[in-house]
Amino acid sequence: MERTVIDIPSAESTADDFEDRYGRRPDGVWSAPGRVNLIGEHTDYNDGLVFPFAIERRTWAAVGHREDRLLTVHSGAMPEPAQASLDALSPDGFDGWSAYVFGVVWAMEQRGVSLEGRTGFDLMLASDVPLGAGLSSSAAIECAVAIALNDEWELGLTRRELIYICQLAENGAVGAPTGNMDQTASLMGEPGHGVLIDVRAETADPVPLHFADEELELLVIDTRVHHEHATGGYGARRKSCEDGAAAMGVDSLRDLGEADLPRALETLDDETYRRVKHVITENARVARTAEVVQQDGPRAIGDLLVQSHASMRDDFEISCPELDLAVETALTQGAVGARMTGGGFGGAAIALVDAGRAEEVGAAVEAAFAESGFTAPIVFVVNPAAGAHRDL
Ligand code: GLA
Repeated sequence: MERTVIDIPSAESTADDFEDRYGRRPDGVWSAPGRVNLIGEHTDYNDGLVFPFAIERRTWAAVGHREDRLLTVHSGAMPEPAQASLDALSPDGFDGWSAYVFGVVWAMEQRGVSLEGRTGFDLMLASDVPLGAGLSSSAAIECAVAIALNDEWELGLTRRELIYICQLAENGAVGAPTGNMDQTASLMGEPGHGVLIDVRAETADPVPLHFADEELELLVIDTRVHHEHATGGYGARRKSCEDGAAAMGVDSLRDLGEADLPRALETLDDETYRRVKHVITENARVARTAEVVQQDGPRAIGDLLVQSHASMRDDFEISCPELDLAVETALTQGAVGARMTGGGFGGAAIALVDAGRAEEVGAAVEAAFAESGFTAPIVFVVNPAAGAHRDL
């Protein structure tokens, strides 16, 4: 569907770019994917359940060691290279996008990795994860850098520890108060599988999705409405959840279930109640989706996706007219299910459609956007793909 991608990067092209820039071959190339969240929105920072999958869109990191203590990063997408020193790593000194890279090194140190006696590295980044589309382009950078350094520095950190390091980079260096769904999906994804995450239990289990077996395709509709999680609505929603939990006398909303809704209605103001209701019901929908997809297959999860969207639109209030129109149009076109995905306030919607109908559904969404005077969306198919790994 997408007609605009030229020069799609790869592990090899990233290694070549590294050589052009630094005049030597890299020690290796590692990559990590973006993700789509199938269901479970704003549940991760409430200790809840989430069900994302890694997609083929990836970020590649070609890395070569240096003899001194400097860290250098180039990226084709950014005009200026960035540099930092292992002797003076502080989030205050990270400039813009380089926080995603240097923030990981900083977070490693925060979580107990000694940087003493280590040497720095040169790094070349390349990515085909669209920026700002709600597909976790930032987690893809963090996770690619984290697994690369884990190997280069022979740290022996587990994937679970890398999840927390990458989340800390996002929270403490980038400044976005997110949960860890994105990093978990990027590090734990498997081809053909969703990752069923229980944040409180610290588990991330692969669950087969069977999209292709059931002749389904998953369409991403990038509305191109920009979202920014470091500011604004995301943090406000997180605060409402914390306030709601406190007023209900629990540590986190994970401690509440649907049986608690009547008490929540009595206890909370209308807005907080609706925020809390979204999280409680969304956790239940995630658990149900994971059961249903295994018992009855992916065609049976459509209603759960639609209910999730309604909950985000009406109760959590993180949708926008473009996302609602994308979802409605896909459903009118016969999609099995559709919902906005990711943090909200823009970004992307997903639609589960019959294989072979992606083009048609995409065209209908484009036409509906044109009619409403919205910026043309970008529509493409994604498949559940492998998590972060070493490529070369
Ligand atoms: C963003 C955050 C995630 C998660 C989602 C909402 O993607 O990075 O941690 O909270 O929003 O589900």
